[in-house]
Amino acid sequence: MTEPDATGRFGRFGGRFLPEALMPAAKAVEAAFREAWADPAFTTEYRRLLTHYAGRPTPVTECARLSRALGVRVLLKREDLAHTGSHKINNVLGQALLARRTGKRKLIAETGAGQHGVATATAAALLDLSCTVYMGEEDVRRQALNVFRMELLGAEVVPVSSATNAGTLKEATNAALRAWVNETEEAHYCLGSVMGPHPYPWMVREFQRVIGDEARAQCAELLPTAVPDVVVACVGGGSNAAGTFAGFVGTPARLVGVEAAGGSAVDKGVLGVLHGFTSHFLQEESQVLEAHSISAGLDYPGVGPEHVHLAERGRAQYPSVTDEQALRALRLVTRLEGILPALESAHALAWVVDAAGTGELPAGSTVLVTLSGRGDKDVQQIREHLR
Ligand SMILES: Cc1ncc(COP(=O)(O)O)c(C=O)c1O
Repeated sequence: MTEPDATGRFGRFGGRFLPEALMPAAKAVEAAFREAWADPAFTTEYRRLLTHYAGRPTPVTECARLSRALGVRVLLKREDLAHTGSHKINNVLGQALLARRTGKRKLIAETGAGQHGVATATAAALLDLSCTVYMGEEDVRRQALNVFRMELLGAEVVPVSSATNAGTLKEATNAALRAWVNETEEAHYCLGSVMGPHPYPWMVREFQRVIGDEARAQCAELLPTAVPDVVVACVGGGSNAAGTFAGFVGTPARLVGVEAAGGSAVDKGVLGVLHGFTSHFLQEESQVLEAHSISAGLDYPGVGPEHVHLAERGRAQYPSVTDEQALRALRLVTRLEGILPALESAHALAWVVDAAGTGELPAGSTVLVTLSGRGDKDVQQIREHLR
């Protein structure tokens, strides 16, 4: 992966487009991250928490029955086994340590599926920080269990809607940015994906690259070719995919980021600016549109800037799959492997199932899929859809 330029851009995308009141705070986060990331005391403490608190390294699981059914060799990088049940914990532990290092007493976060909110509330409890999580009203409904988990952990969850819609991740992000304006002195904005103003897309990727670095080393031990033919991850904002791709971008592996059909910003989005960065956003006549996905973590109308840059350079591809394809894949993997994936991760798996079926993945190929989270949070949703 490339480093962003001095203005935080990956090619034409990224940057820092913020109201004047937030500029100093975002620049301070960048300066603090640069200093911390070069400081062995910080990185040692971060790695210690990843190992002894988050449970890393997560394993790579060989899926024998699924592989037989599809005719391709499927390996899963198991972020569902990390503490709190998803990859979100990797980023949050880094940012919470950064908040403490810069003397902040509070974390502010936005959340869609609730996994980032749960991870943030967890890190806040661990490091004795207070925590407020903004969440769209629609997502509060869809992810009631995660709202309760956050409250148990001591966080305040603030439901958000707008005049025109029920409220999902877009509205939650608006509200979190507004709250940060009033609290820059005492609060760190713990953004949950590779989006938002510089340095977040870069910083979050660096905190998530542990997924790809581990997987690369694990594949080197497991595979005669050392590198899988294809590396696949689902893309909402794009953090689990960016972290995974970081480990393989310098190899010949084909990189595939799978978006939800109703949120395929890389492919169907148009160049625009939202939430402090330039990227592709679903929009019509300069109005940002609502994204749709059965999974709360994938219905953001934009995507992290580095992904659009990778797509433009032809280094990664971004197909999309429908709710139905994701649900079918979820049932298949659960039945064959005894692993219930998060609905988000089921999108990545659905692409593998379909690509194996159409021959886009030649028989005998080796495919590594990042299983970004476990499906426990989605059981109620899945039940409603399968009834
Ligand atoms: C389990 C899981 N996977 C994936 C995502 C999508 O986020 P990202 O694209 O940043 O990895 C989310 C977001 O909430 C999630 O909870």
